[in-house]
Amino acid sequence: MSNQNASKMWSGRFREPLNATFEQWQRSFPFDWRLLPQEIAASSAHARAIAAAGILTDAELKQMLDGLAAVAARFPASGDLQQTGAAIVASSPGAEDIHHFSELELHKEIGDLALKLHTGRSRNEQIATDMRLFVRDAIDNTLAGLREWIAALIEIAEAAQDAVMPSYTHLQRAEPVLIAHWLLAYVSMAERDCTRMADCRKRMNLCPLGSGAIAGATLALDRTIAASALGFDAPTPNSMDATSDRDFALEFTSAASILGIHISRFAEELTLHSTAEFGFLDLPEAFSTGSSAMPQKKNPDLTELIRGKSGRLLGANVTLSVLIKGLPLAYNKDLQEGQEPVFDVADTLAGMFSVLPAFTRALRFREDRMKVAADTGYLNAMAAATYLTHKGVPFRKAHEKIGNAVRFGLESGRELGELTLGELQEFGPEFGEDFFASVTLEATLDCHDVIGGTARHRVAEAVQAAKQRLSLSSNEE
Ligand code: ARG
Repeated sequence: MSNQNASKMWSGRFREPLNATFEQWQRSFPFDWRLLPQEIAASSAHARAIAAAGILTDAELKQMLDGLAAVAARFPASGDLQQTGAAIVASSPGAEDIHHFSELELHKEIGDLALKLHTGRSRNEQIATDMRLFVRDAIDNTLAGLREWIAALIEIAEAAQDAVMPSYTHLQRAEPVLIAHWLLAYVSMAERDCTRMADCRKRMNLCPLGSGAIAGATLALDRTIAASALGFDAPTPNSMDATSDRDFALEFTSAASILGIHISRFAEELTLHSTAEFGFLDLPEAFSTGSSAMPQKKNPDLTELIRGKSGRLLGANVTLSVLIKGLPLAYNKDLQEGQEPVFDVADTLAGMFSVLPAFTRALRFREDRMKVAADTGYLNAMAAATYLTHKGVPFRKAHEKIGNAVRFGLESGRELGELTLGELQEFGPEFGEDFFASVTLEATLDCHDVIGGTARHRVAEAVQAAKQRLSLSSNEE
């Protein structure tokens, strides 16, 4: 009864061999090898569940767990991931996927006892479980990276003290702000990214094992055994959903995309600030590159690559969305195509966070130039109009009077604070001596004295509050 598919996990009903090209083409082992740690953890949990159901004796369970641990040991915790992968893949050219590979390897370790492991389970629930475990780890790594970046942002915000910069709307200078205030804007974004990741982790932390191929395990398994062995909160509630759901992956790539958009905006601003035209930033040499052609160049490759790599995150999210949207319930092989984008997102994020915190800490702002840019060009015009409203002038009128004063200043090459009281009073009798104190750089900052505003004491408080949130979130770990 044997046939050429005999080494497969499904050979019984087949008489014809697989087309050799198709066979190679449909394999996922060349990329899903990296799920080996998850596959072994899930298989060990399943072994405990079937032992509890009477399929394995205690001695057999022990033998199986030892065998699985021996297979896992082929995947060193440290070392070059790609090299490890290349060696694992080359070692088993016949393995269809990671599930097949583990079974073949377990057979080498413990012989025919290995053939009992697949009792009461299906690869459909296995891949769903392995991927959840992978995404859960990727979320934990991303949270660690985000926290490290937040710590770096807070550090440089604190170091910047009361240093100022212009803020921009429409990329036109708007009002002066503290450099720390601008940096804390990114802290806010990164904090939202943390909560999105953590939220996704909470929602996905359910165990598909015991869902079978589609309709639930054919053994009366206690599904809580595998769930708790793997650190899941509970078993998933519906077998059809559990074997075909990839929301957890989609939420992860979606949260990663938003995070990528944030980091990309930061990268774009720094790229812009480092130009001679802005001159706000000396790029750290340790994170810049030169030009092979133009000897004078120092290029912002780090920020450009961050901007570029955030595109990959978005791409992965689109790939997954399109992959899933037309699939009938439950498992379809299309889902195999959803693995690589998730791996790529995890790797891309890990790469970004391997450089971003150190780069952030190495930033040196040219505070003198930023101050000149913040202190000239009528960035105090709104503060000036506000001064008039305190004198009882309706804001709409105040806006117009200050607009006229700005026009006059532009024509005579002077800032608002450089006009004489007599000149100002041409635009309104409400101007008094106290006007000059209300349009200094400090007063212009401090008049934004609201929660979330750039008044100096508000920003100092905001830095402390951010620090405290960071230490609380790290303690929650
Ligand atoms: N390699 C497969 C995947 O990634 C595992 C599940 C296979 N299931 C099946 N019914 N063929 O999706």
